[in-house]
Amino acid sequence: MEHPDTLDNLLHEERVFRPLPQMIIEAGINPHDLNAAKEFAASNPEGYWEEAADELGWFKKWDKVLDETDAPFYRWYTGARCNIVYNALDRHIETVNKNRLALIWEGEPGDQKQFTYYDLYRAVNRFSNALRSLGVGKGDHVVLYMPQLPETVVSMLACARIGAVHSLVFSGFSARLLRERIKEIQPKVVITADGFYRNGQVVRLKEEVDRALIDNPADSLESVVVVHRANVEVVMDSSRDYWYADLVRHEKTQAAAEIMDANDPLFLLYTSGTTGKSKGIVHNHGGYMVGVHRTFNMVFDLKPTDIFWCSADPGWITGHSYMVYGPLLAGTTTVMYEGHALYPQADRLWHIISKYGVTIFYTSPTQIRTLMRFGPKYPNQHDLSSLRILGAVGEPFNPEAWIWLHKNIGRGQCPVLDTWWQTEAGMIMISPTPVSVLKPGSVTKPLPGIEADVVDSCGEPVPAGKGGLLVIRRPWPGMMSSVYKDNELIRKHYWGRIPGMFYAGDVARKDEDGYFWIQGRADDVLNISGHRIGTAELESALTGHPDVAEAVVIGVPDKIKGQVAKAFVTLNHGVSPSDDLSRALKEHIQRELGPVVIVKSIEFKDELPKTSSGKIERSSLC
Ligand code: PRX
Repeated sequence: MEHPDTLDNLLHEERVFRPLPQMIIEAGINPHDLNAAKEFAASNPEGYWEEAADELGWFKKWDKVLDETDAPFYRWYTGARCNIVYNALDRHIETVNKNRLALIWEGEPGDQKQFTYYDLYRAVNRFSNALRSLGVGKGDHVVLYMPQLPETVVSMLACARIGAVHSLVFSGFSARLLRERIKEIQPKVVITADGFYRNGQVVRLKEEVDRALIDNPADSLESVVVVHRANVEVVMDSSRDYWYADLVRHEKTQAAAEIMDANDPLFLLYTSGTTGKSKGIVHNHGGYMVGVHRTFNMVFDLKPTDIFWCSADPGWITGHSYMVYGPLLAGTTTVMYEGHALYPQADRLWHIISKYGVTIFYTSPTQIRTLMRFGPKYPNQHDLSSLRILGAVGEPFNPEAWIWLHKNIGRGQCPVLDTWWQTEAGMIMISPTPVSVLKPGSVTKPLPGIEADVVDSCGEPVPAGKGGLLVIRRPWPGMMSSVYKDNELIRKHYWGRIPGMFYAGDVARKDEDGYFWIQGRADDVLNISGHRIGTAELESALTGHPDVAEAVVIGVPDKIKGQVAKAFVTLNHGVSPSDDLSRALKEHIQRELGPVVIVKSIEFKDELPKTSSGKIERSSLC
């Protein structure tokens, strides 16, 4: 039976997929264990998260698992000392993992690099020493404007190793956005590349950095480190710019890991929020490490032979938690691909899976919808039999794309795990495991230790089948520790919209079996291809154009990207609407925010609908 391919299917999907008996036999955590873990965590949440923390190495253990004295500013593992990189690298080189592959990287032109844990450990130590010699130390900020390169992983880990706070700015964002972040974050160092390959073209990244740094937006900035990747000519400012290779060449392969307090910041990652401007979400060494480690192992049911590929970009939270930190904490092999999924043709991802024997593939619904258009011809040309688990994140997964993935990529044998979480959550929160009964389009049930619910605006649970607001009732270790320069948002917004509960900003429903179905954002944040973009950011970019008087942006459904942006614009006196102007405005947005930010259509209006108090009435445009 074929269903029409729309997100409305989420409202009446009835198909159910049970785990294959073999999956249950081989599972590290069978359904009985999972239920027992849920029961234990419900009755003793701190005990559950203490056990999870005990699986990792600590320089000093905690005085308290969860300190609620300053709630909702929760603190995990107070008094503990650790370093996430010690657990991601040093711990493994004492074991058989030393010579295991940590990272397999493939460039878009087809070049490859592989690092064992020992290789990666030495590369990270070298760059840690280089950063220290540039004067970077504990608490300093470092901005990474990096594509998908091994040096991106090395840089993140080197910062964390020496206690510096890394902040990645997605390489698809513009110089203007990068400049804004640099201004706000005040980094000591910016790390970038000369360029990188994307869809057969070279993207000249260092040029963007140079543009972002005109007139020095940050007094703190002392150095720019440039990875040589695409062999493009760049201007090097001899007082500030260094080639990465020159810096590490003579550095030692030993570098002590900084002893961090569990509540010291690890990274700062910006995401669009309800309140106009993007906000900097901060995660710490201790709680984040425990949350990511436990969920990575549980959701993907790791085996010693796994090769794990998360196809997200490291510039987003998925790349942080499940391309870099999760797999390395678990001691598995992580795969990274520099380029475009359709380059040189639509089988690139399937080619990579068969070439490296990927066993777990974690991707996004948009990527699947994009590749589905080409039919089963391309996957059929490759041996995908190494795959045992498929996963997705970032946006609602329409059942037809889910079924396509299950049938054509997973041969009907690999569970498709639709995982719900967000930048603020740090770790997977609501998700099946490989032994769960699956319903296409549902993220199934909360993981052990996570108390999620769907409530009305007063916090009352809504009946089964009814839509409401997604909340989390208890703190969890991977949760953000603060909001950079706007920490009151934690009290006022996240734990304040509905007092005593964490407000996720999503609309969801729970069915009669307790399965969660995520419908989309409850706020003015668009989810385009799984990437959060605030309507306020698009509107302010549009009104920055000299011809635009007012602008309002809404999300409209899209078959591939899930959602796309549509703008309504009024023009300044004397300016007439035209196709040329529409094109110019779309280009203006890309220049302002970056090539990834696409407004699909622009409608010119004589006036925008307003409320009696003069505010634009967005809802009447939807
Ligand atoms: O709306 C939800 C959607 O993505 C948002 C979080 O975006 P971000 O912080 O960029 O993190 C994305 C990757 C973790 C959520 O508030 N979202 C995430 N996962 C799902 C989802 N929507 C539906 N189904 C999902 N599995």
